[in-house]
Amino acid sequence: MAGNTIGKLFKLTTFGESHGKAIGGIIDGCPAGIKLNLEEIQNELNRRKPGQSKIVTQRKEPDTVEYYSGIFEGVTTGTPIGFVIHNTNQKSKDYSHIKDVYRPSHADYTYDKKYGVRDYRGGGRSSARETASRVVAGAIAKQFLSKIEINAFTSSVGDIFIDKPYQDLDFSKIESNIIRCPDEVSAQKMISKVEEIKKQGDTIGGTITCVIKNVPVGLGEPVFDKLHAELGKAMLSINAVKGFEYGSGFCGAKMKGSEHNDLFNEDGTTKTNLSGGIQGGISNGMDIYFRVAFKPVATVIQKQDALNSAGEIVEMQGKGRHDPCVVPRAVPIVEAMAALVLADYLLLDRVTRL
Ligand SMILES: Cc1cc2nc3c(=O)[nH]c(=O)nc-3n(C[C@H](O)[C@H](O)[C@H](O)COP(=O)(O)O)c2cc1C
Repeated sequence: MAGNTIGKLFKLTTFGESHGKAIGGIIDGCPAGIKLNLEEIQNELNRRKPGQSKIVTQRKEPDTVEYYSGIFEGVTTGTPIGFVIHNTNQKSKDYSHIKDVYRPSHADYTYDKKYGVRDYRGGGRSSARETASRVVAGAIAKQFLSKIEINAFTSSVGDIFIDKPYQDLDFSKIESNIIRCPDEVSAQKMISKVEEIKKQGDTIGGTITCVIKNVPVGLGEPVFDKLHAELGKAMLSINAVKGFEYGSGFCGAKMKGSEHNDLFNEDGTTKTNLSGGIQGGISNGMDIYFRVAFKPVATVIQKQDALNSAGEIVEMQGKGRHDPCVVPRAVPIVEAMAALVLADYLLLDRVTRL
């Protein structure tokens, strides 16, 4: 299996499956001398962990991270940082019904056809459990970024969305509700929606908006390594993500150039920011903002037709503990992936110009 590593200089490789002994990662290229706040890293993991509220999966995992290398007396040594999170709450029998059956719209069919061998318990490597390792690495990257601020939040669930620009939102309120939406009125509607969907044994999609502030001018390269291309890849690598748009995104396609152009101020900042903080693949110092669309995930607690490995259509009933809406748990994952890309591009910037 290829593609377990992201990054060119600040690199993360993850390992592990949801029902194996542990998951974890190796961060290679993290600069020496960063004083880490380990509690802060664990807090980020706690934001992603299952069982944290009534609207997410009730699987209970402590998700405690253990470091094996690369940190001495709380400071990075510049050597690879190896870390592990033990899997402690597997209920493998919850998955016996999918041993020979491919769940519609999950990764079972493609994975089996490609590799011919599949740990069906919990989706194996295709399980979003892997993203816990990304959150650990992203939390370390965040501490390297210091002044660059990354805030992600739930901006829609189903057809309920925040109808305010992000500039009117107070990001300190993101953690004040279980859906992670800084607009309290929208948050309550979103929570009720997820509860209603959960009662129906169904799932629902939504979007996450991410805003990155204090980015210096100059991160990103003009051709294949455009900053937004790398952010897009990082976001689209998160399980269940179906869309990525930055700046004006798909709305920009309906506008005229005279409306869309971001006119300059004398100091090089712009009066508007439909470019989303990136021009020609390079950051221009304005806020970078983007949206990530998550599908309603596959595991519905309802009867559905599925395909078995013998090529027969069979009826299956989803079981076990699942997320009716993954968006609130994905907020720290989006932030982590953004932090990993920015840390990598900050280092790349130091070797690509004098
Ligand atoms: C935080 C998080 C939790 C998830 N939980 C579930 C789940 O409980 N049930 C499920 O079917 N999919 C869940 N997923 C999505 C699957 O991992 C994903 O849909 C699957 O691997 C197939 O990949 P794709 O949807 O990207 O094509 C979750 C995704 C995330 C980000």
